[in-house]
Amino acid sequence: MIMIIINRSKKEAKKILKSHAPINSLSIKSSILECIGDTPLVRLNRLFTDPDIEVLAKLECMNPGGSMKDRPARYIIEQGLKNGTIQSNSHIVESTSGNLGIALAMMGRLYGLAVTCVVDPKVSAVNLKIMKQMGANIEMVTEADEQGGYLLTRIAHVQYLLGSIPNSVWINQYANSNNWKSHFEGTGTEIADALDDLDVLIAGVSTSGSIMGIARRLREKFPALHVVGVDAVGSIIFGGPPGSRDLPGIGASRIPELLNKSEIDSVYHINDLDSANGCRALLRYEGIFAGGSSGSVVAAAQQVVAKMRKPIGRPLRVVIILPDRGERYMDKVYDDDWYAMVEAKWLAVEGEVVHE
Ligand SMILES: Cc1ncc(COP(=O)(O)O)c(C=O)c1O
Repeated sequence: MIMIIINRSKKEAKKILKSHAPINSLSIKSSILECIGDTPLVRLNRLFTDPDIEVLAKLECMNPGGSMKDRPARYIIEQGLKNGTIQSNSHIVESTSGNLGIALAMMGRLYGLAVTCVVDPKVSAVNLKIMKQMGANIEMVTEADEQGGYLLTRIAHVQYLLGSIPNSVWINQYANSNNWKSHFEGTGTEIADALDDLDVLIAGVSTSGSIMGIARRLREKFPALHVVGVDAVGSIIFGGPPGSRDLPGIGASRIPELLNKSEIDSVYHINDLDSANGCRALLRYEGIFAGGSSGSVVAAAQQVVAKMRKPIGRPLRVVIILPDRGERYMDKVYDDDWYAMVEAKWLAVEGEVVHE
């Protein structure tokens, strides 16, 4: 297998693609790619104790690259290889400092593709190390844009790389329809196949690929589904005022092209403190060690279930998406000094609001 990848050719890339096509059809996987998806749905009845409410968590953190971004990374690369927009000599470029970069780097190893991740100084040291160890090239932008962030500088640098790297291909996760389709065919279909009834879906939003894809698939089976988007306080996706936020994952400083707001019924904005509390509750009550946006989703779920009308004759059934694992957040959510800093900040803000 190693020889095939090192001495890759178009024919060989096709051969690997073919050998990876059926997911989970054998008990022995022919590569790590076949371990993507089929993640468990787990009942959280220690954290949500009301017998009239059933909260099921889709553990996307159990994907082999550590997050749900394995799905779009695999789908986008494999569709590209199939339709010819990605070739065996393509060089994958993306602006990402987190889970998608790691997932793309993993895909690059398997398909013998060069991968360059454009990052900024806010990238976590752990993510940077994982991307490098997985063989990705790292391009760090250092100049902030006129909004004080790095998004525009990162996109400008991607454009520069596309003009200077031969055979470069931009993944463009905010606008690439294969992003949401990966969740329509994967995550959404797995949930639909597992359940006979479902009332509410709660998921975090950044590119919106996951919530769009999962909701579209689930509404085919459950037309009355109530879809809840979870955004970060300080993100502008749903029109909130821009502000600083420390946890990566959900939120964005731009509106994703993939997002169709009319498909989301309600939106909850969660701050870093409530996200951290959600993570810590998930760990304390359920033993699930998850990343920051999982905590945001748990915090939103606690508010949502208190408000929703219960169906007659059965519990209200809610699915929440837990996108990644806790290890990448050891210096934030699971660091007591960081927690104390965030707690002081948000308690002061809440105090001001009460004072007004
Ligand atoms: C940890 C985490 N949670 C949630 C999201 C949001 O997912 P999406 O981009 O599909 O909206 C992301 C996206 O990067 C993520 O990394």
